[in-house]
Amino acid sequence: MSSNIPPGFSHQKIETNNFLMIVLILLVIAVGGLVEIVPLFFQKSTTEAVAGVEPLTPLQLAGRDIYVREGCYNCHSQMIRPFRAETLRYGHYSVAGEFVYDHPFQWGSKRTGPDLHRVGGKYSDEWHRIHLNNPRDVVPESNMPAYTWLEKAPLDGAESAAHMTALRRVGVPYTDEQIAAAPAAVKGKTEMDAVVAYLQSLGLALK
Ligand code: HEC
Repeated sequence: MSSNIPPGFSHQKIETNNFLMIVLILLVIAVGGLVEIVPLFFQKSTTEAVAGVEPLTPLQLAGRDIYVREGCYNCHSQMIRPFRAETLRYGHYSVAGEFVYDHPFQWGSKRTGPDLHRVGGKYSDEWHRIHLNNPRDVVPESNMPAYTWLEKAPLDGAESAAHMTALRRVGVPYTDEQIAAAPAAVKGKTEMDAVVAYLQSLGLALK
């Protein structure tokens, strides 16, 4: 076999040395991966918010926390893929610039229920309240759980301010005034108000 290979041809050294082969494969994959990934950290289309995307208000942000706490992402994605079947059903496919203030992303990977990325404005607030309290009241065949405790739980304003401060550290442009005003903004509101406000904010920028 080696007779076909010209003497001194270095590939033979690689192909007959497992360790060298593994190291070089890892190197090639690492460089290839970096070439694909690194530009995403600097490209405008992936790092800047698309027009119309604003940081969530304190009430919407509280709703997002409840969305995460209740595990809504286990049944709902927030990621419309660029396929005709999806865009016909949900609207414009999701783009990176819509998620720049999302920490962590709620893209999800499981759709027991429909994608929620553009559910904002699809229903009235009242519909969401009834639906969250008992989905069967508006969608008889629904197997979504009822979240009856949301409307009985008051919000904690101190938590909102702390959360906004933390988000500011990772690049969400909240001002001092906005953070200072957060406790007042959620005062007297319930977790139900917050989840509904959050759902109504979803996906409006590229409707
Ligand atoms: C066990 C899976 C499951 C979980 C967990 C779940 N859902 Fe659902 N959801 C569904 C299913 C199935 C539907 C479709 C039937 C319906 O509308 O009730 C749905 C529908 C919806 C809709 C209507 C979407 C549309 O376009 O018609 C909204 C809004 C929604 N869910 C919000 C939530 C929120 C908020 C949470 C967490 C508090 C949540 N869901 C948790 C399964 C789930």
